Amino acid sequence: MYGNDFNVPDEVAGAGLGAGAPGGPSHLLDEVAAAERALREAGAARVADPGVAADGDELLRYFDAVIEADQKIEPRDWMPDAYRQGLIRQIAQHAHSEIIGMQPEGNWISRAPSLKRKAILLAKVQDEAGHGLYLYAAAETLGVSRDALVELLLAGRQKYSSIFNYPTLTWADVGAIGWLVDGAAIVNQVPLCRCSYGPYARAMIRICKEESFHQRQGYEILHTLAHGTPGQKAMAQDAVNRWWYPSLAMFGPPDADSTHSQQSMTWKIKRFSNDELRQRFVDMCVQQASVLGLDIPDPDLRWNEQRQAHDYTQPDYTELMRVIKGDGPCNRQRAAHRHAAHADGAWVREAAAAYAAKRNAPTTKAAA
Ligand SMILES: [Fe+2]
Ligand SMILES: [Fe+2]
Repeated sequence: MYGNDFNVPDEVAGAGLGAGAPGGPSHLLDEVAAAERALREAGAARVADPGVAADGDELLRYFDAVIEADQKIEPRDWMPDAYRQGLIRQIAQHAHSEIIGMQPEGNWISRAPSLKRKAILLAKVQDEAGHGLYLYAAAETLGVSRDALVELLLAGRQKYSSIFNYPTLTWADVGAIGWLVDGAAIVNQVPLCRCSYGPYARAMIRICKEESFHQRQGYEILHTLAHGTPGQKAMAQDAVNRWWYPSLAMFGPPDADSTHSQQSMTWKIKRFSNDELRQRFVDMCVQQASVLGLDIPDPDLRWNEQRQAHDYTQPDYTELMRVIKGDGPCNRQRAAHRHAAHADGAWVREAAAAYAAKRNAPTTKAAA
């Protein structure tokens, strides 16, 4: 699964990034594969439909029964308005994150240190555009248009992940983003492959498979730097120091302060709490960091025998809230860039619309 470009060093394989290692992406990929099988099985065994004449109570009972049976709600199904609106909010925020998330690494495409690195990074950033498109398409099945969601992003009325408001200062940041940011994304998103809304679950399966490649490319960049000159190793450590806590914050506020969690759990949109996922991520990273030979910048990080998990320092949630509210190091820059890119793309949208109108226009037969 490492791709054809380079071999997996033995020690990397042992760090959870090799086939089937616990906690590593291959292990997570096994979970994605299991979710994909479950999705197919659920499609084959549907709870009996209440029929078109069903009233509100019957529809709600049917909805609850589908969720209870771990089957999928599909666009044609009735769903409570709060379920629909909550999903639109979540999927849109996720789609916007993929699109804005292209910017921090896009900065480095022209400065990647070799042709191979450039090609890999280009493919990775392009994947993120694809993720945005799958997700906008999934949101559209809930009755909202992609244009409307893009307008909400541009107007600052819908959010994207606050992690993308941090700058990428050196090439090592591209490695740290792949390892930590895409790594946190995978841990967050693998459970979404079992989300109760079919189109979102299907999009997540495809996305998680690609995110696994992203994490490996970042890890491999850091591994190369950490085993290079002392200057390269210091650059890798500096990047990890800056990205560690913002990555922990990607799991959202602590459970006690998380506003949408309980209802999302009941509806099987969310399967684990923010704190559970954050813990899983920390445990996964510790072993991988030791193989890299890099330190996780947390003097209080240690194994807790009783909990069978690592104790660690929480990220600064005040900073998280400040960045979410628009006052991070790059919020304005990211928004300005997206506005400019949207304006620059106007002619493409106009040309596509004109072409579609031409194709759909009734053909006039030439006079005989
Ligand atoms: Fe992505
Ligand atoms: Fe990614």
